[in-house]
Amino acid sequence: MKKGSLIVGLDVGTTKTCAVVGEIVPVKKTDRGFFSDNTNDAVVDIIGVGNAPSSGVKKGVVINIERTAESIKRAIEEVEAMTGIEIKAVYVGIAGDHVDSFSSQGVIAVRDKEINQREVEKVIDAAKTVAIPLDREILHVAPVGFTVDGQNGINDPRGMSGIRLEANVRIITGSATSVKNLIKSCQRAGLDILGIMLEPLACAEAILSMEERDMGAGIVDIGGGTTNITLFHEGNICYNSVLNVGGSNFTNDIAIGLRVPASEAEKIKKEYGCALLTMVKNNEEIEIAYEDKPGRKIPRQHLIEILQPRAEEVLYLIKEEIIKSGFYGLMTSGIVLTGGAVLLHGMDIMAENILELPVRIGKAKGIKGLTDIVSSPEYATGVGLVLCGAKESAAERRMNGGGQFSEVKMMIKRWVNGIFK
Ligand SMILES: Nc1ncnc2c1ncn2[C@@H]1O[C@H](COP(=O)(O)OP(=O)(O)OP(=O)(O)O)[C@@H](O)[C@H]1O
Ligand SMILES: [Mg+2]
Repeated sequence: MKKGSLIVGLDVGTTKTCAVVGEIVPVKKTDRGFFSDNTNDAVVDIIGVGNAPSSGVKKGVVINIERTAESIKRAIEEVEAMTGIEIKAVYVGIAGDHVDSFSSQGVIAVRDKEINQREVEKVIDAAKTVAIPLDREILHVAPVGFTVDGQNGINDPRGMSGIRLEANVRIITGSATSVKNLIKSCQRAGLDILGIMLEPLACAEAILSMEERDMGAGIVDIGGGTTNITLFHEGNICYNSVLNVGGSNFTNDIAIGLRVPASEAEKIKKEYGCALLTMVKNNEEIEIAYEDKPGRKIPRQHLIEILQPRAEEVLYLIKEEIIKSGFYGLMTSGIVLTGGAVLLHGMDIMAENILELPVRIGKAKGIKGLTDIVSSPEYATGVGLVLCGAKESAAERRMNGGGQFSEVKMMIKRWVNGIFK
């Protein structure tokens, strides 16, 4: 196999760890490639998916390295068995409520009166020169807009004339300890890390088009333990926030409300769950039977009476967060829902009513191969990591370094060299 043609994305979530393997293949003229900059010369063929329950992760953060490494190993072994390929290195996603973002500005004087790529990089570097606490690490820097000689709202200043260039950027940071523990877990599982990517950015690569990101759109990833809200405008991330609620809250509500173990509540939720009472018939009954307990029948509506208020609560929290961001009015292309918890029937309908924005469920695009499996919202992040990794490896081949992982690559280097305390 040609070096670099296989890419593995690893999503270490609160409830599941999944490894997705993609192969970069040249495209026929008619296929849609994965490059968003119109250099469509390759497409990603998804050839394998491996899954294992996560046991060392809480609210998106590694709390037990041994157990997380064990889950990673199991997911990798599964995908190795499926593809017959030995996996040595991965692109891994990072998320969790330790991820935070803030705005920053930088300014430089333009030398030759015409702005070039180097000057754009310099002004972004200047915007990055802010005091970051020792316990934080920069995960990503996204340019939000440029100002040339007082004229603001410029997306791409390259080629423009001017003498003063200013950049507005969004800096996304994560807890240094969380990053370090994720890296350690992967290494303990015997894997090298090619890059660490902010999960919502990876997810956007799979489910949001460039047009949607330009017009203004948001991704709401309702996972097992967390809800990630990421907003895009004028092509870039403009806001990111994490709420400590997810599918596990629905499961716990069922466990308490119906007095069943959590494992049984999870099964009931997936089989009979629904977010809207109006979607369920009056006379529908469900049977609860587990272990050696005698089975009992209850109206399905009892279950939905437990789930509907939780779904409403989560969606109102999301709306509040989007309004708080100040970008609510700019979400012209609406909200794309992803993450396993949006598989609850009626979540999209309820979300559209509560958020008062267009809503759709996100399915991974721009890929070939096992599309029937990976188009489930549970795999959007894993597929996105493969797509970002594919872009990165292509960019590296073209430019000999750099690319969107360069920030975290430096961080990994420092960590491996022992400078990262
Ligand atoms: N059919 C379904 N109906 C309702 N909920 C579902 C369904 N399928 C999966 N879920 C829920 O989705 C959640 C898992 O989603 P996902 O795999 O996106 O989470 P994760 O990535 O492990 O967690 P996180 O992103 O919070 O770290 C679980 O709470 C699970 O119960
Ligand atoms: Mg997740």
